[in-house]
This record gives sequence, structure tokens and C-alpha cells, in this order.
Amino acid sequence: MNVLVTGGAGFIGSNLIHFLLSQKPEWNLINVDSLTYAGNLENLSSCDDNPRYSFELADITDTVRIHEVFDKHHPDFILHLAAESHVDRSVLDPLVFVRTNVLGTQVLLDEMRKTVPGSRFLHVSTDEVYGSLGAEGYFTEETPIAPNSPYSSSKAGSDMLVRAAFITHGLDTVITRCSNNYGPYQFPEKLIPLMLNNAWAGKPLPVYGDGRNVRDWIYVDDHCSALLAVLENGRSGEVYNIGGNNEWANIDIVKLILRQAEASEDLIQFVTDRPGHDHRYAIDATKIEKGLGWQPRHSFEEALPLTIKWYGDNIEWTRRIVSGAYRDYYEQQYGQRLG
Ligand code: NAD
Ligand code: TYD
Repeated sequence: MNVLVTGGAGFIGSNLIHFLLSQKPEWNLINVDSLTYAGNLENLSSCDDNPRYSFELADITDTVRIHEVFDKHHPDFILHLAAESHVDRSVLDPLVFVRTNVLGTQVLLDEMRKTVPGSRFLHVSTDEVYGSLGAEGYFTEETPIAPNSPYSSSKAGSDMLVRAAFITHGLDTVITRCSNNYGPYQFPEKLIPLMLNNAWAGKPLPVYGDGRNVRDWIYVDDHCSALLAVLENGRSGEVYNIGGNNEWANIDIVKLILRQAEASEDLIQFVTDRPGHDHRYAIDATKIEKGLGWQPRHSFEEALPLTIKWYGDNIEWTRRIVSGAYRDYYEQQYGQRLG
């Protein structure tokens, strides 16, 4: 089986490639990534000598290059994770989100239809497409799409294009919508690694608004196992929500991190709220749990300390991102400079 993963050098993509290489010994994994600031090939350095892993430097909006990659590898499965993923950046610069998330998804769907029409396309989306909840209720797969940020709107747009490819062209597509992930290799602009690194450095921890916004946190390995379940057994044309059943207000997570990092709560700094900040996300994952027998296996109590330990043991990984040295890895490995 040839399995193409877009965005494999990012946070979830690199965890997914490690996960699939260990779980699926007969699969070849092809990582297709353009290495934006969020792509870090060092996440996959331990796979470099694995004959079942290969890397293709490609922008998913580049039709010519994407055709070359599909023509070379003829994927049986396409796991589509490549995206611009940070809400704050989408507030400042939405166009690149539309380009990669919307246009890039259509380029992949067109190429699949042309080159490998019998393959399966798993589109990795987000619970943020449903918009924001009040104190009560959960997102189900029937919740109307009502995104609020340029990021979530561009993801919602891509979801609609995937749906259209299923209905109009009969392509075999499935969509997943997952809640907030945490774990190793997360770019240090996202809440948990950012707060942890600031706590260790004795820098202020910027909490948006009153810190009462709620997110449902899932350990990244549990997201990976859910993606595998949907890829292998999900029903064509369907959407599957994925969640950790683990809701936390931001301020409570920040205090927990400070305690585990043995740093003072005096570092907390309430700052101007994010514009359009969604109040609460919460997932009803009954469909994947009952339909595909999937369950998250990691509790927050067990996996958050493991995650913190990982960032502590890999402080050099963060340092190389902060200094920009991580960008040199591609040239060292493949002998070409990144554009
Ligand atoms: P990330 O930002 O860490 O990684 C994104 C990857 O995509 C990077 O390696 C980047 O280089 C690559 N990429 C960006 N633009 C590209 C382009 N034009 N062509 C090729 N590659 C490109 O993101 P992540 O947190 O790992 O998220 C992965 C996917 O999962 C995204 O689609 C995101 O919407 C979705 N998701 C993320 C979360 C979360 O909590 N992080 C939750 C639910 C869903
Ligand atoms: P983030 O990790 O950016 O994920 P998302 O916005 O996709 O949920 O943020 C998680 C929550 O943490 C969100 O409510 C915004 C908040 N947040 C802060 O309060 N301060 C920060 O510096 C960041 C990055 C996020």
C-alpha cells in the first residue's frame, strides 16, 4: 500500500507518520510537504533510513508538482493534513489560508480524480468549522457549519469541496473533525508548548481575555488511531467527529502547566482577547466510538506530564526552532536549499 500524507512535517502529520510506520509494517509512507515555517523535517529524522518512508518537497497548490508526485507514487490512500493551522495568523493574513486550505485541497482532489480515482481521500478537518458553543451542548456531525475565524472558514470551505468531490464525482472521501491536539512536536506558537516554554524561561504567559474559553484536548496519538480507524473502516462520504472528552478552560490548563513546570502563577498575564475568539468547543464522538469501536486511550492526567517531559527532554528541538536552525535540515539531508 502506498499512503500519501500531506503536511507530514507538521505537528500531527509527523506523529501520524511515526504512528503508521509502527502500526502498519506493510505500508509505504510518502510525506508531501512544502516546509512552511510549520514544517520541520527534524521531527522525522529517525525515519530517514527507513525504506518505507520517503519525502517529496511539494506545495499542494502546485498542480504540476502534485501531478509528478501522484504519478510517481500512485497512492492507495491520501491522508490530507497540509494546512495553515494557526488562528492568530489567519486573523493577520487570511489569504495564505484560503490558498493552501481551499485551493490546495481542490488541487489534490482534481489530481486524485485524474490519476488515482479508485483511491481513498481522508480529509483531516477540525471541530472549529462548527463555530462556538455556549456553556451547554456538544458538536455532533449534524451541527450546522458556522465557522468564525479565517482559519476555520477556510477549513469549512475545504470540507465542502471534499463533499462535492464525493457527490459530484463519486470519489471515495471521508472527513474527520477533531478537537485540540497536544503532544510532542507541536510548533511552539500553540497554547501548550508556548506556555510551557515561557514558564521554563521565566517569561510572561499571555492568556487571552479572561482565560475562560474552553477547549476539548486530545492526545495526538489518539487522534492518529482515530484517523487510522476512519481510513480503514469509515463509510464513504461520511464525517466523523473525534474528541478527547476532556474539556478545560485555558486558565486552568495554564495553572496546571505552571504547577508541573514548577513556575509561579505570577507569570500569568491577561492580554487583549483574540478577535472573534470562540468561547467553547466540545465534541460528541458517539459516531466513531459506536460505529468504528474507537476510544481515546490516553488520559490527560497521564499524557500531559508525558508531553511536558518530552519538551523538557527535547529542549534542543525547541531551541532550533526559535533560532531558525531547523530550516537547515532539508539542505543537510537532501543537498538543496529551501526556496
Ligand atoms: P501544522 O501547522 O503543525 O502543520 C501543517 C503542515 O502543513 C506543515 O508541515 C506545513 O509545512 C505543511 N503545509 C502548509 N502549507 C502547505 C502547502 N501549501 N503545501 C504543502 N504543505 C503545506 O498543523 P497541525 O497542527 O499538524 O494540523 C494538521 C491538520 O490537522 C490541519 O489540517 C489542521 O487543520 C488539522 N487539525 C489540527 C488540530 C490541532 O489541534 N493542531 C486539530 C484538529 C484538526
Ligand atoms: P490555540 O493553541 O491557538 O488553538 P485554537 O485557537 O485552534 O483552539 O489556542 C488554544 C486556546 O488558547 C484558545 O482559546 C486561544 C488561547 N490562547 C491564549 O490564551 N494565549 C495564547 O498565547 C495562545 C497561543 C492561545
